[in-house]
Amino acid sequence: MKALILAGGSGTRLRPITYTGAKQLVPVANKPILFYVIDNIVSAGIKDIGIIISPETGQEIQKAVDEAQLWDAKMTYITQEKPLGLAHAVLTAQPFLAESPFVMYLGDNLIGIDINSFVHSFQVNTPEAQILLKEVENPSSFGIATVDEQGRVIRLVEKPKIPESNLALIGIYIFSPKIFDAIHEIKPSWRGELEITDAIQKLIDWNATVYSSIIQEWWLDTGKKDDLLNANRIVLDELLKTDIRGSYCEESKITGRVVLPEDSEVINSYIRGPVILGHGVRIEDSFVGPFSSIGNKTRIIGSSVEHVVLLENCQVNGISRLEDSIMGRNAIVRKINNIRRAVSLIVSDDSIVEF
Ligand code: TTP
Repeated sequence: MKALILAGGSGTRLRPITYTGAKQLVPVANKPILFYVIDNIVSAGIKDIGIIISPETGQEIQKAVDEAQLWDAKMTYITQEKPLGLAHAVLTAQPFLAESPFVMYLGDNLIGIDINSFVHSFQVNTPEAQILLKEVENPSSFGIATVDEQGRVIRLVEKPKIPESNLALIGIYIFSPKIFDAIHEIKPSWRGELEITDAIQKLIDWNATVYSSIIQEWWLDTGKKDDLLNANRIVLDELLKTDIRGSYCEESKITGRVVLPEDSEVINSYIRGPVILGHGVRIEDSFVGPFSSIGNKTRIIGSSVEHVVLLENCQVNGISRLEDSIMGRNAIVRKINNIRRAVSLIVSDDSIVEF
C-alpha cells in the first residue's frame, strides 16, 4: 500500500495567510497540518508516500518535511503544474503509484482518529475504492454519499441542493489502480477541475465495489479562518499535555495545560491553558487565554490574547484584547492610540497593523 498526499492547490480560502505560504504548513497547536497527515499515514504502516506539490509552494513543503526528519518513510515529491482538480492530481501521480493500491489524503485535512482500521478493512474486503464519510449538518456544502445498509456507496453528489443524505466525503480515500481508468473517462466539471467524486461515481456506474466507513470522531477541513481556529481549539483541548521547562517569575501565574519550552519566558503575565508557546517566546505584562498557539520567537507585550494562532516571530504590543485571530510570520499588531475594544484579525506574513 502506498499513500498520496495532496498538498498542491491554491489555498484561496485561507488568504491572506496563503499568499506567502502553503496552507498545509499552517500550524495547528504549533505543528503543521501536513505533519498530522503524515503521522496518520505512517502509523497505518505505510512507508512509501507521494506528496503532490504546486510550483508555487512545493519547495517550502519539501524543505519542511525533509528537515523535520520525523518519519521512517520514503517521500516522493510530485509537481502538479496547475491545480486542475483532485482527480488530476491522482493522474499526475500515476507513474509513482503504478499498480499499487493507495490511500489518498488531502493535505489540509485533520481527523480525530487514526486510519488503521480503514486501511485494514480495505485490505480484507478488496473493493475498488473505499471512502471515509462523516455526518454533517449542512450537506449542501459538501460532496455527499448515499450508501446502502452494507456500507456500499450507491451515489455521490457534489454540493446537492436537495441532499439525499448527510454523509459528507471528508477527503480520505483508498483506491485500487482501477481509479485511473475511471479518471480517464471523466471530463472537467463546471469549475474546470477533474473531480475525484466524478471518478468514483464512474466506478459505481461500472458496478465496481465502492465501500464507505463513517467516522464518529471530529473532522476539520482547515480551509478557512474559523475552521483553522476551531481545529486549533480541538487539538489543544484533546492532545496538549503540560510541559513547563521555561522560566516564569513570581508575579506570573500559569493555570491549565500549558507548554512552555526552556528558552521561552513569561514575565509578569497570566497564561491560562490550554496554551502552547513555541521556542524563544516572550510574554510580558500580558494575558494569554485558552486555545492559543504562539509560534517560535513571538513576543506579546502589554496585551491580552485569547483563541489565537500566531505564527513565528510575531509581535503583539499594547492590544487590550486580540481574539479569534490568526497572524502570519513576522506580523506585527500594535497600539498607537488608546483602543480598548476587542479586535479579531487575520494578518498576513510580514504585515503591520497599527491602531
Ligand atoms: P481544496 O481545498 O479543494 O482546494 P485549494 O487548495 O485550491 O483551496 P481553495 O479552495 O482555498 O482555493 O484542496 C484540498 C487539498 O487538495 C489541498 O491540500 C490542496 C490539494 N489540491 C491539490 O493538490 N491539487 C489540486 O488540483 C487541488 C484542487 C487541490
